Amino acid sequence: MINNKFPKDFLWGTATSSYQIEGAMDADGKGKSVWDTYSHLSGKIQNNDNGDVACDHYNLWPKDIKLLKKLGVKAYRLSISWPRIFPSGHEKAPNLPGLDFYSQLIDNLLENNIKPFITLNHWDIPQGLEDIGGWPSRDMVDAFVKYSYYVSDNLGDRVKNWITHNEPYCISYLGYVHGQFPPGLKDNWPKSLATAHHLLLSHGMSINEIRNNSKESEVGITLNLAPSTPASNSTYDIEHCKFFDVQLNQLYLDPLYKKSYPEYLFDYLTKKRLIKKSDINFIKPGDLETIGKKTDFLGVNFYSRAIIRDQDIAEDKNLPIEVTPGEKTDFGWEIHPRSLYNLLIRIKKDYPIEKIYITENGCAYNDPPDKNNIINDSKRIEYHSSHIKELKNAIIDGVPCKGYFAWSLMDNFEWCEGFGKRFGLIWVDFESLERVPKQSFFWYKSLIENNGKET
Ligand code: FCB
Repeated sequence: MINNKFPKDFLWGTATSSYQIEGAMDADGKGKSVWDTYSHLSGKIQNNDNGDVACDHYNLWPKDIKLLKKLGVKAYRLSISWPRIFPSGHEKAPNLPGLDFYSQLIDNLLENNIKPFITLNHWDIPQGLEDIGGWPSRDMVDAFVKYSYYVSDNLGDRVKNWITHNEPYCISYLGYVHGQFPPGLKDNWPKSLATAHHLLLSHGMSINEIRNNSKESEVGITLNLAPSTPASNSTYDIEHCKFFDVQLNQLYLDPLYKKSYPEYLFDYLTKKRLIKKSDINFIKPGDLETIGKKTDFLGVNFYSRAIIRDQDIAEDKNLPIEVTPGEKTDFGWEIHPRSLYNLLIRIKKDYPIEKIYITENGCAYNDPPDKNNIINDSKRIEYHSSHIKELKNAIIDGVPCKGYFAWSLMDNFEWCEGFGKRFGLIWVDFESLERVPKQSFFWYKSLIENNGKET
């Protein structure tokens, strides 16, 4: 039960991203994104689903704005599909119908008193840019600056909250080490690190462009962060946990807020022969200064904590596991709300961050509509409620958090999981495209009406 109200101007919102909801994969001059390509490769996505139609938000957006209005959110985080604006990434001038689509969406949001938070890169970069090397190539920095210039030039009179990138870790690690995301490379640490660096550099390079075009706006970046804990007290697990923390959290936070990279990471990877020292020559003089330019806010996406077991050591050589996960969501992610509190307190202590938004927090549960078309997703309500409670505790203890965006407004294309994992406050029937608000939608609506107090 959440008893205290939140600060008066606290922003309650929901979030989505372009590839996950829009569909209309080639409408009005849109080019192919890397996700268009990747989701059509056999076996990459559960059930071989793809985002060709998704929620068809590109056509059904007036309905979705009505639902946002009904929900009562003060803010809505959406992302722009880069290949709608620059179909191949290489054009000199933007594709105007693409800009028009977002322009009318934004006008409508504002008419309904909903503040648009725009993410410029929520992973669906033009395939044409991937074809010339993608994020491991420094050319991406200029391409991103050009894209952010044109978008902010066209929308910046009305949009005042900008997020450059969503979760660089996922692009860098899942794309080049884990191999689950496009371009699907495995164990390529040199490319993974170059990707992280170019994402951060392009963030820093675009800050001034956006601020010039969009007066009195704020520009931030969204990171997926998580606290981690060793599964046992063995030196293997402790060391591996440190490495995990550095590559997930510090690799991004340190350059953004301390103008330095965690040397430990490069030393560790070199020792393990996963990189050569010469691989990190993508860091050029002045880059860290650019990356560390003042960022107005940090977007934090939080889902779970990580319990770390060193997989390289035989189980019988390691100590017995002492920390086991508690209850999990349908995604298999542990529910651990206290970790949100711990994370926020830690980043406040370690970094000079002036403003935070929780840009994503949510859970996958697949509860279907009952015979009366009611979706009783009580576990989702409990998930959000328990996390918002810990967020409130963190705010009381001094964390400068100014908003919370529930992931997600509606069920959507959940990347490699396809349509099989549902995060929405609204049920989407992916055949008929009907939208049905779940019980969590009504719970969140009432929470917003009472500014965070549960009734
Ligand atoms: C995050 C992504 C978002 C969504 C949630 C469940 O990592 O930013 O698009 O898929 O996970």
